[in-house]
Amino acid sequence: MLIGGEAYRTIWREAGQSSIRVIDQRGLPHRFVVKDLRSAAEASLAITDMTVRGAPLIGVTGAYGLALAMAENPGDASLDAAYRLLIAARPTAVNLRWGLERMRRRLERLSEGARAEAAFAEAAVMADEDALICEALGEHGSALIAARWEAIGRSRPVNVLTHCNAGWLATVDWGTALAPIYKAHRAGIPVHVWVDETRPRNQGASLTAYELGQEGVAHTVVVDNLGGHLMQHRQVDLCIVGTDRTTRTGDVCNKIGTYLKALAAHDNGVPFYVALPSSTIDWRISDGVAEIPIEERSPTEVTHMSGVTAAGDVETIRVTPEGSPALNYGFDVTPARLVTGLITESGVCPASETGLLSLFPKQEAA
Ligand code: MRU
Repeated sequence: MLIGGEAYRTIWREAGQSSIRVIDQRGLPHRFVVKDLRSAAEASLAITDMTVRGAPLIGVTGAYGLALAMAENPGDASLDAAYRLLIAARPTAVNLRWGLERMRRRLERLSEGARAEAAFAEAAVMADEDALICEALGEHGSALIAARWEAIGRSRPVNVLTHCNAGWLATVDWGTALAPIYKAHRAGIPVHVWVDETRPRNQGASLTAYELGQEGVAHTVVVDNLGGHLMQHRQVDLCIVGTDRTTRTGDVCNKIGTYLKALAAHDNGVPFYVALPSSTIDWRISDGVAEIPIEERSPTEVTHMSGVTAAGDVETIRVTPEGSPALNYGFDVTPARLVTGLITESGVCPASETGLLSLFPKQEAA
């Protein structure tokens, strides 16, 4: 998608280079910086410190991290050590495990001499697939926006509320929750997006607003607490959010605060959709609240905020009294009963085991 009118992906490898390039998301929207990752340790740190973030992008970064390890040392012990290092980087998004397991299955069968090249090739395939999958789910999701536009007699823009950043910066390209919006926008359907700021790290205010602005999509940043009020006053036509892990029964785990939006949507009869690539489905689990590990992050993300000063300097300030403790869970689980539908690359389905199996029947046996 576009930055300054130029098309980018979030992660790529320059031809012939043994390093990987990523957009450093910590600087956005104030600083656009591209960072090189040269080893599995650097890839792991980039995931942990959120240089890169978003479930699908974490998965692809993990895959490239294993490729970087293979370029350094293609032995079995190196593969195992890099796998263990990378899988510990962030616990909630299942795409990391999905990406690493796919890579390990591919590499274990190969001779050591063939591993590095095969690993970079497989990671590149995964990146391309992610872009195609997100574009496909964008097509399916845009039909929902188009239907809403028809339902309101094409009288005004369709108002979509989203939480956190599930845009192209959270994937390789296109995004999940924002892909339907980009597709609708490019098809000429007027869309306006309510962007939850998403405390504590403000991925909505910094990243979602930035992406939408770069693509020319109308949007308004709102505090996280405004959504319920907007929905009561009929100012939200539908909600679309992403997910870091989806159970086989359709529970979704997404950025902290998503559950409260789903409750408000349910209470006000606002459709609440979740957009996801199938790599985000954890077919092994059925109960999101009981079984999904929830990442706990540093309290300083709550006690401090960063922004740009009038002089153009990026600064971090403390917003709490010195010494007040803070608690920082990164994600919460929205039960399937609050989800109107799941938007996937294979179509839209009810948030249920039957719904998911209707789109992904091969998982029935598993
Ligand atoms: O902590 P983050 O910024 O990685 O959280 C990201 C989200 O919660 C996204 O909504 C989720 O990864 C889905 S992304 C396409």
